[in-house]
Amino acid sequence: MKVPGIKGFRDVLPEEAALRRRLIERSRGVLESYGFAEIEIPLMERGELFARSVGSTSDIVEKEMYAFEDRDGALIALRPEGTASVVRAYLEAGLSRAMPIARLYYLGPMFRRERPQKGRFRQFTQIGAEFLGRDDPEADAETLCLVADICEAVELPGYRIEVNSLGDSECRPAYRKALVEFGRAKFDELCDDCKARLERNPLRLLDCKNEQCAEVTADAPMMIDHLCAPCKTHHGRVLELASGLGVELEHNPRMVRGLDYYCRTAFEVSAEGLGAQGAVGGGGRYDGLVAELGGPEQAGIGFAFGVERMQLASTDDEPAPGLDILVAPLAEEAAGVALSLARRLRRADWKVEVGASDKKLKAQLKRADKIGVRYAVLLGPDEVAAGRATVRNLAARSDHAGCFALDATAEEIGRELEGTNQGEA
Ligand code: HAM
Repeated sequence: MKVPGIKGFRDVLPEEAALRRRLIERSRGVLESYGFAEIEIPLMERGELFARSVGSTSDIVEKEMYAFEDRDGALIALRPEGTASVVRAYLEAGLSRAMPIARLYYLGPMFRRERPQKGRFRQFTQIGAEFLGRDDPEADAETLCLVADICEAVELPGYRIEVNSLGDSECRPAYRKALVEFGRAKFDELCDDCKARLERNPLRLLDCKNEQCAEVTADAPMMIDHLCAPCKTHHGRVLELASGLGVELEHNPRMVRGLDYYCRTAFEVSAEGLGAQGAVGGGGRYDGLVAELGGPEQAGIGFAFGVERMQLASTDDEPAPGLDILVAPLAEEAAGVALSLARRLRRADWKVEVGASDKKLKAQLKRADKIGVRYAVLLGPDEVAAGRATVRNLAARSDHAGCFALDATAEEIGRELEGTNQGEA
């Protein structure tokens, strides 16, 4: 009996690999051009780390985190995101003292027990960046510019960057209070989720997907109208600098993000073709987080893109580069020669597969066709005895065959293979 995989945990099949690799490599290239260095963080952390950063009343921690008790009684969680881990690592490695301004990026799987659907999985891959130690608006503008440059580099169709300011510990408490009062007055008209989170996490009222809630909260107070003077100045300067860089931003006063550590600048990236799961990336500033996790008062801003969502939005359909050569031994005594010839060709940078010697010529050519190789190198008993190999150019679909001596150099063999291209259609 087959054992099925777990719902929401998908396999990345080889046919996706080329696109994923391109998206990742292009994002990496942009990140490194901005001076970000890669950090690898573990898949598991103490559950407490996320409760104290992402927030114990956030959906991510409350409903979606894979948390379990380890054999020694410690509460462990599969990481639902990377920011908390990067900050923990930054503190644990002493970087907050040795290198307070750090530009770090990471790539890897994250885990959230959400309801699986198109573009939403329980294991997904993020490429994310954290810019620590800077609280000035230039850092925000540079980060938004980096986000836009990644979107450009991976050619995200119709991407949009929405921004908002979420205020800070000075101005948010009063705003929060105003929002709770607003919600209380409309309590009976809210959905059950909003009723339940009104007192604990009122900001989520603003991004509730329920249509009635959206109507009811249409005239709710917005953070942007309640910013204190420093937050207002910061926000204005970020927009001014971003605009000077030609980074197009759309203001969305209802965007609140689902993680509690944010303050001031918050943003989300969407792209065409994603349907309900529109966000391909998101991030923002989190100035209180380093201190919250036991470090000094150190600011930070960052973001993460979902690689699977980049894949879904991408219109890049460049096929994966195929194999170059199938070396086909046509008798048992040709097998060793075939293996050693393939090894020599691989060392000369050809991509080579070796067939099984108990398969007939027809079956080997069928396999060559299926895997899309350009050349088949045939090694029958006669060829081996004569110290030669026959070449068929499968890509040219002609009967033109070539041959080469088995003791020829890889370069000579290469020239012989390319010679068979003559007469190619
Ligand atoms: P987030 O908005 O929760 O932010 O996730 C970032 C991105 O991860 C989303 O925009 C989406 O593309 C992808 N993603 C999230 N959940 C899923 C899912 N269930 N299936 C597929 N893709 C998903 C964060 O995680 C923050 N740590 C970002 C950040 C970094 N903020 C500051 N620094």
